[in-house]
Amino acid sequence: DFAGNPNGLVSCNHWGFKFSATVTEQEVEDMYNHPLDPRDVWVVTPPKCGTTWTQEMVWLIANDLDYEGAKTPFNPDRWSFLDITGVLDKDQMKKIAPPASEDGATEGAPNIAGDPNRPSPRFVKSHLPFSLNNPRLLDVCKVVYMARNPKDLCVSFYHHMRLIRFHDFLGDFELFVDYFMKDLTMESPYIEHMIEAWNLRHHPNLCFLFYEDMKKDMKTEIRKVAKFLGKDFTDEQVDMLAEHLHFDNFKNNPWVNAEHLKPLGLMYTDRGNFIRKGKTGDWKNYFTPEMNEKFDKWVAEKLKGTDLTFVQEL
Ligand code: A3P
Repeated sequence: DFAGNPNGLVSCNHWGFKFSATVTEQEVEDMYNHPLDPRDVWVVTPPKCGTTWTQEMVWLIANDLDYEGAKTPFNPDRWSFLDITGVLDKDQMKKIAPPASEDGATEGAPNIAGDPNRPSPRFVKSHLPFSLNNPRLLDVCKVVYMARNPKDLCVSFYHHMRLIRFHDFLGDFELFVDYFMKDLTMESPYIEHMIEAWNLRHHPNLCFLFYEDMKKDMKTEIRKVAKFLGKDFTDEQVDMLAEHLHFDNFKNNPWVNAEHLKPLGLMYTDRGNFIRKGKTGDWKNYFTPEMNEKFDKWVAEKLKGTDLTFVQEL
């Protein structure tokens, strides 16, 4: 039961969503007890906060800017996606993994995402809040966390839920915001997720980032993460990484844009790209003044008593 919302973890089984996911107690327990190794690096975020962007940055920094090695899909080759194993069964995982190679050398690796048996160093992505991840996570592993202003998160999630075939959200944005503000969208509640992490931000094993800071000054954030992971790069190397991670390049990078999901039919090809718009303030194109007022009040209520604030536009 996270923040009093037992349905919030992965539920999307209500009108407007075709896909319903149930996670068994055992699966939640397995995620909670995921083995830890000090060599592992985790990226923990609420969904749609720039996880993929953070993952690519972290992976490249931790792997001494191995751009050749980065030419392979995230999931499952480079990263374990912890919480997806709780949502998809083995057959569904098989579909998500890149197809088996003809020579049989790779068998489609359905078992790798979130697989605790994967050898260290592991790169683990988790959308679970700290309270649902292994409680010793920060004692053992370095964690990079990315937060984002909730309005852009909401817009981004709306598109995500339309893009991914097994979510297949059919309602309009107004309906989506309604679900969002009831904490009924998948892996909600997000603001509590961010407050939890914010309260841990001074932990030496946590590097807390904001999407909006990355947009404003990516090089400073790259240097911050490099220092956090014990790496020292020249200005030229930082420039090159910032170029690699720049939205215009990122959106055309097949290894991060989940291109391999398209031929497998897991994405609607006519509903845009996974790496979509990459803007701060896109919410203005979606929220009416009434929705905006209601949403602001809702967020302010949740943030009461914390000093966490969000940047809404740059
Ligand atoms: P939008 O839908 O607002 O464009 P996640 O990886 O957590 O699912 O987050 C996806 C969001 O991050 C999308 O937001 C996506 O476009 C944005 N994003 C991904 N790469 C980015 C980059 N290099 N620069 C800016 N935004 C990026």
